[in-house]
Order: sequence, then structure tokens, then C-alpha cells
Amino acid sequence: MSAKPRARNSGTDEPEAVVPRPAVALEDLPGVGGAIADKLREAGYTDLMELAVASPSDVAEAAEIGTATAQKIISEARRQADVGGFESGVILLERRQKLGRVSTGAKSLDDLLGGGVETQAITEFSGEFGTGKTQLAHQIAVNIQQPPEHGGLSSETVYIDTEATFRPERIVDMAKAVGLDPTEALGKIHIARAFNSNHQMLLVGKAQELARERPIRLIVVDSLTAHFRSEYMGRGELAPRQQFLNRHLHELLRFGTTFNAAIVVTNQVSSRPDILFGDPTRPIGGNIVAHAATYRIYLRKSKPPKRIARLIDSPNLPEGEAVISLTSEGIRE
Ligand code: GTP
Ligand code: MG
Repeated sequence: MSAKPRARNSGTDEPEAVVPRPAVALEDLPGVGGAIADKLREAGYTDLMELAVASPSDVAEAAEIGTATAQKIISEARRQADVGGFESGVILLERRQKLGRVSTGAKSLDDLLGGGVETQAITEFSGEFGTGKTQLAHQIAVNIQQPPEHGGLSSETVYIDTEATFRPERIVDMAKAVGLDPTEALGKIHIARAFNSNHQMLLVGKAQELARERPIRLIVVDSLTAHFRSEYMGRGELAPRQQFLNRHLHELLRFGTTFNAAIVVTNQVSSRPDILFGDPTRPIGGNIVAHAATYRIYLRKSKPPKRIARLIDSPNLPEGEAVISLTSEGIRE
């Protein structure tokens, strides 16, 4: 993947606006006619980048074409999207230096995360019902609107709501509490209800379209796993479930790197033995989610309104815990 063209700004700490890459229609690729393009889009390949990093067998299946043809289409998409080569350490460093951070509302939790929720990474909040996952998602969608000196990125959010638990009233409360205009705050959160896992995956493509027009620097998926879990129940369906979940996570991560955006996902823990993990305190999705998520926070209840957040399996941060409170004004220390 090459560095995306970004608008230069004049050396301030303001996050750089991402200049979206020009939309090249799938139909512009040699060998892709209207019918194939439609099938690809239906399967979630909405632009060149999606195709460029896809596997030939997936594309062949989606477009009902041979693997050799699929390979040719992918190669051409790679060439046009300029991905698949090496990139120098300098470019990687440059990209890392652009990492942004968003406050969760509680300094203790921000510290645990190394300074807040990071862009270009997936942060997972897991825990049983009522542990504050949805509250955290709401709070971060409010906080990202703040300027950097107040823990935000002056940006907007795409909120993928799979359980119909998004509450505009909570945004109003949280926005008022940090001095934001509640109506403006609501206008900067773009909510889509995902009706099933397939729809959930398609919405990431929609988010890309929106991010070409709006400064989207956060995608929330609340909950990441609920649809996958209820749709793929049996042991025989474990492989497809994990495969689609894996693709979904990688599309999210790709959005994160392309737009220098934070990805926040919530995840239940299995209350009854999951087909993958018998342990009732393990987040759903097993090793697929474990691999894709950079930061994993496990929440548990404490004396109300307190919750204990524990950082689990982090590659570069010490494990530890933070105590947060769920208040009517939002997440607080
Ligand atoms: P599931 O989605 O069911 O798995 O739970 P969750 O982890 O998403 O829980 P959620 O974030 O919805 O947390 C619910 C808790 O947040 C409630 O039990 C309250 O403690 C707190 N909460 C939610 N709304 C309010 C509010 O308006 N005022 C106050 N003080 N607390 C609230
Ligand atoms: Mg919830």
C-alpha cells in the first residue's frame, strides 16, 4: 500500500485532512463488465482497494468467473490502486507519526491505552451486558469532535449499530457535558442500523463513500459479533463465520489506515459456552478478533457506577487495569 495523498497543512498539530483517492469505477478495469461489477459490489467489493487485497478464489466466487480471470482483475486493481509492493520504513514511520488519539473521557483508561483510542488500529471493548461498551462507543463518538487539545480530532463518526442501542439522547447529554452544541454533535455522527452480518459488512463500503465527503476519523461497530454469532450457529458454520468476520475486520482496518481513522468495536463475552471457546469470560470471535484487534479492553462490573477496564493481550503496552464510572454525563474517571 502506498501513502495516500494528503492535504499539506502549515505545520500545526491539527490532524491532516485525508484527500480521498479518486474513485475509479470497477467497470474501468479490463475484463470487468457491468454484470461482473454489479456482482462484485453486491459481494462488498466496492472499490479498487477492496479488490486489490482480495483473494482470487473469493473474487472468482463473488463474480462467478474463473480464478484465472479473477487473478487478472486483482492484478490490474493492484496496479491501479498502487498496492502490493514494498514501502520504505520512512513511509511507515511517517504514517505512524500521523497516529491520532481520542480520549475515552476517563484519563485512567486513556493512559491504559497509551494516550487514548488510537487511529489506524482496532480497539475492542468486550464484557458482559451492562458493562458500558455502548456508553464508551457513544462517548468516543462525541469526544472525537473536540479539537486535539481537548482529546479529539475535530472529526466525525460512522456508527454501525447492529443492536438498535444507539441513543441520540445520550449523545445530547454527553455533548452538553463537554460544552458541544448537541444538535451539531448529533449531525457529526452518521448512524446506520445493520440488519444482518452481510449488511454490516456492506456498510464499511458505504463508510468509505461517506469519508470521501466528510472528515470521518472513527468507525464504531456496536456490536461486532452479535449478528455473526446468531447467524452462524452450528459447529459446521464456524469456518464461514470466522472467514466473514475476518474479512470484515480487515476491511475495517483498511478503512483505518486509508483514512487515518480509529476503529472501535464492541464484543460480548459468551454467557454460555461459545462453539469456539468454552470459557464464559472470553470475547466472541476467538483468534480472528484477537489477531485483528490491536487493543483489547475487557470490562467488568464493580461497585456501581464503577467498571473495571483491563487491557488484555497488548503487543506494546503493559497489561493493567483502570477504573471508570458510567455517569449521566458520560464516561468519567
Ligand atoms: P450490552 O450491549 O447489553 O452487552 O451492554 P453494554 O456493555 O453495551 O452496556 P451499556 O453501555 O449499555 O451500559 C449500560 C449502563 O450504562 C447502565 O447499566 C447504566 O449504568 C449506564 N447508563 C446508561 N445510560 C445512562 C444514563 O443515562 N445515566 C447514567 N447515570 N447511567 C447510564
Ligand atoms: Mg451495548
